[in-house]
Amino acid sequence: MAFLKVEGLAKVYAGARGRPDTVVFEDVNFSLERGEFVCLIGHSGCGKTTILNVLAGLETPSAGAVIVDGREISGPGLDRGVVFQNHALLPWLTVLGNVAFAVRARWPEWPAARVRARAKETLAKVGLAGAEHKRPAELSGGMKQRVGIARAFSIEPKMLLLDEPFGALDALTRGALQDELLRMVQAARQTVFMITHDVDEAILLADRILLMSSGPRARIVEVVENTLPRSRTRADLHHDPQYYRIRNHLLDFLVSRARSAAATGGAPRLVRPGLEGGEVASASEPRERSPRAATNAGVRGATVVSLHSNA
Ligand SMILES: Nc1ncnc2c1ncn2[C@@H]1O[C@H](COP(=O)(O)OP(=O)(O)OP(=O)(O)O)[C@@H](O)[C@H]1O
Ligand SMILES: [Mg+2]
Repeated sequence: MAFLKVEGLAKVYAGARGRPDTVVFEDVNFSLERGEFVCLIGHSGCGKTTILNVLAGLETPSAGAVIVDGREISGPGLDRGVVFQNHALLPWLTVLGNVAFAVRARWPEWPAARVRARAKETLAKVGLAGAEHKRPAELSGGMKQRVGIARAFSIEPKMLLLDEPFGALDALTRGALQDELLRMVQAARQTVFMITHDVDEAILLADRILLMSSGPRARIVEVVENTLPRSRTRADLHHDPQYYRIRNHLLDFLVSRARSAAATGGAPRLVRPGLEGGEVASASEPRERSPRAATNAGVRGATVVSLHSNA
């Protein structure tokens, strides 16, 4: 059974004063296996943050359900650590105070010294040693983002929900934090759902990449399996020809297909653009990877198609 399952999710805002309702997204179905790293890519405004907030239990969908570990979620929980797009720090607390607040909530039985030590240690991992006593108003956007990351990491949640967590960072810091994130999630076998606008980041980090069409009535239209070896690193990624195929596929989607895809209904397609010739396994053609891919698709009735088949 999938660790997280999203079924028939929709978000509709009622139109004011007789105006038609706004259907931001509808019929969104996907699932995440335990320990899987999944990225969500789509144009601005298609509803990515809304989906993440629903997974976090902070927003109620208009239709559909989210099941985590066999239970329908009914609100926020310490099993899910969230990094918000807008940081969402507590302005009256220091950097250390913001992280310690989460640590204390997670382990209320811990003595204060242990809470502080955990908070300091996590802040050091995101490069904020020495900034512990600053308040959010005294921080740059990238520093605030790193406090948010430290807060989510510090509680060792079963699942991380990350909303463009590295968006405000310079390339060097971003790279270092991506590496730190991978180290942590692999060590703790955490499940990660991450929104990003950066296709290279998605190819480096994700096992699968969900492609969302543009709204209104946005849907997840494709599930891209990352067939690059898990041992990939930023330094060697671009030496593998698969990288360019996957990258082109993602960019083609964003540039030309995201908008038109909205009109086509049906289940998301599972694609493996990294494989030569866009070869894709089907149920009648058993291959070593196909059973896992089929499970990983985790989407009811996912159709499996070949590369650049835009049908
Ligand atoms: N109260 C509201 N009434 C109507 N529409 C709303 C309301 N709140 C949000 N929306 C719409 O919901 C859509 C989804 O917003 P969301 O923040 O989830 O997008 P996003 O994909 O995360 O975008 P970005 O990439 O810019 O962060 C937007 O188009 C927004 O205009
Ligand atoms: Mg957003």
